Amino acid sequence: MDKIIINGGKPLEGTVKISGAKNAVLPMMAAALMVDGISTITRVPNLRDTRTMIRLMEIIGAKVSFKNGTLTVDGSTVNNPEAPYDLVKTMRASFYVLGPLIARFGEVKVSLPGGCAWGPRPVDYHLKGLEELGAKVTLDSGYILAESPKLQGKTIRFEYPSVGATGNIAMAAVTANGTTIIENAAREPEIEQLCLFMNKMGADISGVGTDELTITGVKQLHPADIEVIPDRVEAGTFLMAGAALGEVTVQDVVPKHLKAVLSKLEETGAKIEIKGDAVTVTKAENLAPVDMTTAVFPGFPTDLQAQWVALMMLANGSSVVTDTVYHDRFSHVPELNRLGANIHLENNVAIIRGVKKLLGASVMSTDIRASASLINAGLMAEGQTDLSRIYHIDRGYENIEAKYRALGADISRISE
Ligand code: EPU
Repeated sequence: MDKIIINGGKPLEGTVKISGAKNAVLPMMAAALMVDGISTITRVPNLRDTRTMIRLMEIIGAKVSFKNGTLTVDGSTVNNPEAPYDLVKTMRASFYVLGPLIARFGEVKVSLPGGCAWGPRPVDYHLKGLEELGAKVTLDSGYILAESPKLQGKTIRFEYPSVGATGNIAMAAVTANGTTIIENAAREPEIEQLCLFMNKMGADISGVGTDELTITGVKQLHPADIEVIPDRVEAGTFLMAGAALGEVTVQDVVPKHLKAVLSKLEETGAKIEIKGDAVTVTKAENLAPVDMTTAVFPGFPTDLQAQWVALMMLANGSSVVTDTVYHDRFSHVPELNRLGANIHLENNVAIIRGVKKLLGASVMSTDIRASASLINAGLMAEGQTDLSRIYHIDRGYENIEAKYRALGADISRISE
């Protein structure tokens, strides 16, 4: 198994180019299954998750090619509306094929995703939404079977603005009869881009980027091309490393996607400079402790909660971090404490008492973002940190060691 070895305590300086967003490309790949013909998606990050999605799309019958960040999907050969357990269990985002495949075939069979490292993560909103559009949904041997010769548009109100359920129901609804209104829809930039992509395919979605989507069903979609938005979570991860260790510029980003994160970074005393599509963070003389609560967009993303906890470990005082999106998403905390941090967990609240220094240790990643927080923490700690189970980081971060090395970090990967 591979490991990442970090010799920490060194300053970081330089510029890092941000890759396309994982959470934007995965649903758009699924959307490309809805049309006959070739759609092209550019700026696609080469990640374990994008490769898993390619495998799944090939099983479904699509012809996919992926070279140098350009992905082409030929949906004309799609013939098998089924997502097997083996793939869904390694990547929950496989569930995104549910909406597109019922829209195209009137039936779909998708393995029910299980729990994940930090809790149950249900899919009830996705299923209830499909039922409201007229689908018959059943569970058989761990698989969700959904059927409806033709979905019927309806007003659906989500109890919570779920990213995945908004994406899935929007994809199911674009070719339904009549109009679907999704109230309390997710406003995340990744969902906004999915809707824009479908509009390029001939869908009729208005209210894109707001919490109310109005989707007027169209008879047919056609292939389209799109460039993936920059990954705001990758950008935030590098900015937090910079705020702890020096001066880091993230390039090719959309600064407005990072507003909540940049304003929290400024509260630590760090200097933020925005120039076009680049953001530079310069660390504060004295890192101030800053409380943070995650929320749906435009709030502070849960996908950067673990990295924020890591940053606060060396703050000059105590801070409180609350995750309101995923209450159990704190598997990084015991690992961070192995480096000498002082973090106490009470339900969905982490209380971090800043310490003067951290010391490298062997730690283990438990999910994508916990891994990113442990890498930042290893860079902040003196001495050597070994990070194991790094397949998690490869799911969501492209060339992460090379990107950190270009900033002056001493980080490498070894095979054991
Ligand atoms: N929820 C339900 N029922 C549902 C769906 C969601 O109760 O049917 C709850 C969840 O349990 C959670 C909340 O609603 O408490 C939000 O979940 P959401 O559906 O918004 O999350 P998701 O679509 O499963 C996506 C990202 C996650 C990110 C969340 C929140 C993708 C592929 N995944 O997940 O990203 O944390 O939105 O922003 O887009 C990651 O990239 O590391 C990652 C986990």
